[in-house]
Amino acid sequence: MKIKDLDFEKFISEEEIKQKITSIAERIDDHYAGKTPVFLPILNGSFMFGADLLKQVSIPCRVSFVKISSYVGTVSSGQIKTLIGLEESLFNQDILIVEDIIDSGLTLQKIVEELRGLGTKSVEVISLLRKKPARDKGIVVKYLGFEIESEFVVGYGLDYDGLGRNLKEIYKTNPENIASQNSQV
Ligand code: IMP
Ligand code: MG
Repeated sequence: MKIKDLDFEKFISEEEIKQKITSIAERIDDHYAGKTPVFLPILNGSFMFGADLLKQVSIPCRVSFVKISSYVGTVSSGQIKTLIGLEESLFNQDILIVEDIIDSGLTLQKIVEELRGLGTKSVEVISLLRKKPARDKGIVVKYLGFEIESEFVVGYGLDYDGLGRNLKEIYKTNPENIASQNSQV
């Protein structure tokens, strides 16, 4: 499969994603029984994962899609902006951040810091994917789908230069194929 100049190969199937989501949802139902957590899927990348995950969660919960701009190119730029789109108070709430992928972990660290500053009761992280740099840094993801290496991935919400988010499965390319192409948050 080709998107613009890059070749991608199948990596994680729709079925594998579904199974992983079911097990994450079961753990959340169990851990948050008796609570009403607030899920914060981070747009744009988490729109599909967030929707599929929330369909499997049975406990009462709230959902608020938020956005942060931090990623330019296929390597993390390190430039962090702020969390936007929060419409309700998160004071004293149990927060579950829903991320598509954690690479350097910079985006996530910033979000967690900002949420703690709002007087939340608890903040935990759900991420479909975690890359090697975040793993090496010991970035904690309580509910993780898949550990991957440093390959660039698209599909299931993840994009390459804005393209590929609509794909049902996850595809990967080789890190050597990547020069200075753009990915959007
Ligand atoms: P971090 O701040 O380096 O952890 O970058 C995290 C964000 O970068 C993710 O939420 C994605 O939006 C984007 N990102 C990181 N790796 C990939 C990838 O392989 N494909 C598409 N987007 C990615
Ligand atoms: Mg993202």
